[in-house]
Amino acid sequence: MNAYKTIAVRAANRAGDFIAKAFANRDRIIAQSKGTNDFVSNIDEQAEQLIIDTIHKSYPEHAIFAEESGHQGKSDVEWVIDPIDGTTNFLRGIPHFCVSIAVRQKGKTVAAVVYDPLQDEMFSAAKGSGAQLNNTRLRVSASKKLDGAILATGFPFREGQDLDKYLEYFQAVYPHCIDMRRAGSAALDLAYVAAGRMDGFWEFGLSDWDTAAGVLIVKEAGGMVSDIKGNQYTGDSASILAANPGVFKHFLQTVKNV
Ligand code: IPD
Ligand code: CA
Ligand code: CA
Ligand code: CA
Repeated sequence: MNAYKTIAVRAANRAGDFIAKAFANRDRIIAQSKGTNDFVSNIDEQAEQLIIDTIHKSYPEHAIFAEESGHQGKSDVEWVIDPIDGTTNFLRGIPHFCVSIAVRQKGKTVAAVVYDPLQDEMFSAAKGSGAQLNNTRLRVSASKKLDGAILATGFPFREGQDLDKYLEYFQAVYPHCIDMRRAGSAALDLAYVAAGRMDGFWEFGLSDWDTAAGVLIVKEAGGMVSDIKGNQYTGDSASILAANPGVFKHFLQTVKNV
């Protein structure tokens, strides 16, 4: 196994066990608001530290970019961490959240894990070596069009986000597909596209830590990723579209005039 992926899996397992215990024993959770509709807890922060400690035990010189503590160190290798993706679910007792860790070398993602500790599902990928769920190889779904597709999405819930624009896209796409899901964890949405459980995923206003791992897992499972207009996706893009190749093409055609 890719050496970085091995450490990412170890860190995700450790943090995942810690988060699952806290989820079961809810009285230890202290939540705070980061902004309108945006939350963090002591468990997010402690899980993040656990991940960073695990990485630094093997690679003390590597740089870190983590949601709750920001940038740390300078190196060609950077670990991009979202300790709990789906914090609102976690705080509400909704059992759908994950740990997301990506490893970048000179700006290119080379290894990634998205771990759902309650399902014990470890989605992972190493560049050029495919994607796995636990030990099983992943492949995106084979559907060719939006018709018959189930898409994952996230709503623009933060202050200042353009709900009207989001709804224009929704209105263009929704009538074509079977249905749309808003499950509350972008990293798991991407992992589910890789696993063929969802045919595609789109959202506005995500951050690098939400998508860094999931994007590699989707690509290594044969999926495509861009922004909502078909331009190259970077962690700083204002929107994301990830889907199997057929649905990806049909989605972009459908929203061409939005
Ligand atoms: C959030 C989740 C959610 C998405 C938000 C993200 P967090 O991440 O991925 O599905 O809609 O935009 O911020 O804050 O729980 O790590
Ligand atoms: Ca957050
Ligand atoms: Ca997140
Ligand atoms: Ca988070």
